[in-house]
Amino acid sequence: MTLAFIGIGNVGFALANNFQKKGHHIIVAHNNPNSTSVTEAIAKNTAFSTQLIQEAIDRADVILLATPFFANEAILKPLDFKGKTLVDCTNPVGQGISHGLESKISGSEQIEAWATNANVVKSFTIYGFENFINAEFPNYNTKPVMLIAGNNTSAKETVAQLISDLGYITKDTGSLDQALHLEHMTLLWVKMARRDGHHPNFTWAYLEK
Ligand SMILES: NC(=O)c1ccc[n+]([C@@H]2O[C@H](COP(=O)([O-])OP(=O)(O)OC[C@H]3O[C@@H](n4cnc5c(N)ncnc54)[C@H](OP(=O)(O)O)[C@@H]3O)[C@@H](O)[C@H]2O)c1
Repeated sequence: MTLAFIGIGNVGFALANNFQKKGHHIIVAHNNPNSTSVTEAIAKNTAFSTQLIQEAIDRADVILLATPFFANEAILKPLDFKGKTLVDCTNPVGQGISHGLESKISGSEQIEAWATNANVVKSFTIYGFENFINAEFPNYNTKPVMLIAGNNTSAKETVAQLISDLGYITKDTGSLDQALHLEHMTLLWVKMARRDGHHPNFTWAYLEK
């Protein structure tokens, strides 16, 4: 698939680089030719191409958003996603590692309101970027789970395929309002790893009888 990345920092690069190694074509979508992260990303992986954001959306099968959450209103409002799948990899994180929208609404629902004609799927948020570089846990007989949420079934099926390409099991948690709870799982992970010193290469598994 052709994947456009808006935001190519820690999360965007880890995912884009991993997807490119699995055979996907990556477009780094940006409107700032002086962006440090864009310059570094295309130097580190010369298979990436770059385009202005709207042009990249027009070319891509799926768009992934990996930007600071509170930059997104200004980034998204001028764009037209034309019914395409927008994977929301962002988290609204507030003061003291709290929910940045005071848990009143999920960041993903807010993003769907800002992103014209996008089918938003929350994914790649419940772990730190270290786990997007490589999802393999060879000492276990199961794979890490990636929890997703979204209102469009077909968009979620497409994202599930991408997730499985990276080596995770996908669990669809339901409609986009479930993203609020995924964002709280993120806060749990972030407090454990970034505040309390747990090793960042840990993930969750889904076990069902
Ligand atoms: N870090 C993690 O472990 C982790 C894990 C899961 C989810 N997340 C979430 O993922 C998102 C990105 O986190 P990150 O750690 O990857 O951040 P990061 O390393 O700071 O990267 C942010 C990216 O967004 C771009 N950007 C910033 N403002 C922009 C704008 N106005 N227009 C277009 N692009 C803009 C930056 O480009 P420039 O270089 O040009 O500024 C950079 O490419 C956040 O919402 C975060 O909460 C983070």
